[in-house]
Amino acid sequence: MPKVLVVFAHPAFHRSRVNRALLATAKATAGVTVHDLYETYPDFLIDVRDEQKLLEEHEAVVIQHPFFWYSSPALVKEWLDLVLEYRWAYGEGGDKLRGKILAQAISAGGPEDAYRREGSNFFTVRELLAPYEQTARLCGMGYAEAFAVHGANHIDSAELTGWTQRYGDWLSALRDGSAPLWLAAPH
Ligand SMILES: Cc1cc2nc3c(=O)[nH]c(=O)nc-3n(C[C@H](O)[C@H](O)[C@H](O)COP(=O)(O)O)c2cc1C
Repeated sequence: MPKVLVVFAHPAFHRSRVNRALLATAKATAGVTVHDLYETYPDFLIDVRDEQKLLEEHEAVVIQHPFFWYSSPALVKEWLDLVLEYRWAYGEGGDKLRGKILAQAISAGGPEDAYRREGSNFFTVRELLAPYEQTARLCGMGYAEAFAVHGANHIDSAELTGWTQRYGDWLSALRDGSAPLWLAAPH
């Protein structure tokens, strides 16, 4: 059974360079399933049952997307709003995601040193991703250290190759249960 589900979201994939390269790595990594949200739901009409079934079949879920206004593209929010149902993902009897790992792989235009108190974006990436980390906590999931490509609009092809190799390693660690976590899954 594949273990890692990459839920991918990029509203302008034809213009993507970084996520296109990362996605090719995800597709080539053993034990990883790639699911492209904008390709599957260009009209935003999400099939909740299909999505829940996919989640149930995997042990780790990576949401891969470009960082847009310090968050994700809109379809990721719609997906979270609809798919993580009460009594399925959380609340009474809502234990379908319990014990799984949630993670995010983002590309950000801003350089790494912009994402700190002294930098232009003030907040760290982890702070900005807090709603996702807390979503994982509420659903009884662990939350892995994010994979973040910085300076995404100014990466040369040699650097991009390095990022794709590191992404493959990061996905493999998630698959093998050895990825560093920001939040451990409850026992
Ligand atoms: C609508 C929009 C919002 C963006 N917001 C941010 C942001 O908040 N922080 C950031 O570092 N980069 C931001 N960017 C830059 C993108 O993250 C960057 O272009 C993207 O990661 C490049 O990846 P790609 O080659 O796969 O498109 C934004 C870009 C767009 C189009």
